[in-house]
Amino acid sequence: MKIAIAKPDLTKAAALVVGAAEGPAPGAGAREVDERTGGALSRAMKHSRFKGKAGQFLSVMAPSGLPAGRVTLAGLGPADKFDALAASRVGGGAVAHLLGSGETAARILAEPPEGADLTPASCAAWMAHGARLRGYRFDKYRTTLKTSEKPSLSRVVVMCESPGKARAAHQPLDALADGVFLTRDLVSEPPNALNPAVYADEVRKLSEDGLEVEVFDNERLIEMGMGAIVGVAAGSQYGAYLGIIQWNGAGRGMTKAPVAIVGKGVTFDTGGISIKPSSGMGDMKWDMGGSGVVVGLMRALARRKARVNAVGVVGLVENMPSGTAQRPGDVVKSYSGKTIEILNTDAEGRLVLADALWYAQERFAPRATIDLATLTGAILVSLGAHRAGLFCNDAGLQARLVAAGDAVAEPVWPMPLDDEYDKLIESDIADVKNIGGRHAGSVTAAKFLQRFVNDSPWAHLDIAGVTWANKAGALTPKGGTGYGVRLLERLIAEHYEGN
Ligand code: BES
Ligand code: MN
Ligand code: ZN
Repeated sequence: MKIAIAKPDLTKAAALVVGAAEGPAPGAGAREVDERTGGALSRAMKHSRFKGKAGQFLSVMAPSGLPAGRVTLAGLGPADKFDALAASRVGGGAVAHLLGSGETAARILAEPPEGADLTPASCAAWMAHGARLRGYRFDKYRTTLKTSEKPSLSRVVVMCESPGKARAAHQPLDALADGVFLTRDLVSEPPNALNPAVYADEVRKLSEDGLEVEVFDNERLIEMGMGAIVGVAAGSQYGAYLGIIQWNGAGRGMTKAPVAIVGKGVTFDTGGISIKPSSGMGDMKWDMGGSGVVVGLMRALARRKARVNAVGVVGLVENMPSGTAQRPGDVVKSYSGKTIEILNTDAEGRLVLADALWYAQERFAPRATIDLATLTGAILVSLGAHRAGLFCNDAGLQARLVAAGDAVAEPVWPMPLDDEYDKLIESDIADVKNIGGRHAGSVTAAKFLQRFVNDSPWAHLDIAGVTWANKAGALTPKGGTGYGVRLLERLIAEHYEGN
């Protein structure tokens, strides 16, 4: 989807999208278009259920008085609730509405409703951002699509009176969308294409964005004593990799200690010897989603030259059964020195993170450490596909993450870390075991991770429910969502950048 920002021009044949706020006055743009079309919009509204509610769209075909093939009314919701997120949803919703409509181009008249707390330029920037996010597709493996099966819409122009300002406001959002798209691409790749070795190469390529990248291979990880992550890779033809991605954008007088973002990168999770049932196993191609967020976020920070130091650490492995795979009953020694009794080889993500988290904290002494992982099926039982589970040892960081999540519609929900749950992972023969009991599966997984972090602020996001969408949302098509990139970018921008 090509996205541009320009001055208003009603003389084009493209689909014209006009916002209408909920309430008595639909707004100046809608009034003007209504007059030009001889009242076609107000008549269409009268004969439909369109009320200007957020998420509502109503198309009027070929009205006279304008060259546009159609005029599409977009509900803006109540003016006092119209913010950046609402604007991005209008842009995204317009794309979704017109994607397969037959229109090839859309022109959105960006105009915040009277009384909204958003400048016209930032309204345009956020609408463009939403349009771009929703316009994402992953169809590189489709070779036989007929034109009639492909989306018709390929261009969106967001129109506003101050296009220069809007373009400037859109620039960092464009970098952010680049990051989200990289995450979605990685999550969508089939597991034969994105194996740990290929993934390691993708991580190395981040240096093209000005990031400092190191990749440790399996041999190196064995030398370093990373028995937990190495053990997970034992059944795979590919060894384990640890990627370290640094962005050093903090200027003079700013905090040098980085924010560390750590991700689970299991390119395919069969369960290993504790093998999963075959139904739905294909989903486990996106078990690298946490690492995908780290990679996308680092690209976004670099491309918008964020004034912050940040480091991403990703553990890349494939969890396979084989004659060389680790067994239930094995004891491995983690990088921290703690021993782990493996009682279920399918609880592998926490093993990857144990070493990655310890490494990040030991080497970088971060001001905050946040990990993301598609860690447990149990978080889907708790929270479904709407919110990620948040486990946090610091009240301030927790509040910041909750607020950032709400602001960008990537919501999280705080979950407990009481000591009582820690008893469930006591091992009979080692320092800790890698599974709790039948209950509180997401909590015991988080408690396991906590064994491998110190007392500095740390948060764990269990994103197993939100990484992949079976139906499209306002800003996300079906498939990989990129959930987490916008959330953490917002967290960093609001609290860690420039200070
Ligand atoms: N990758 C899975 C978790 C998962 C499940 C992610 C469903 C996305 C959708 C993880 O490695 C796993 O297998 N967890 C086990 C843990 C159990 C063995 C203690 C689980 O959730 O069943
Ligand atoms: Mn597993
Ligand atoms: Zn897994």
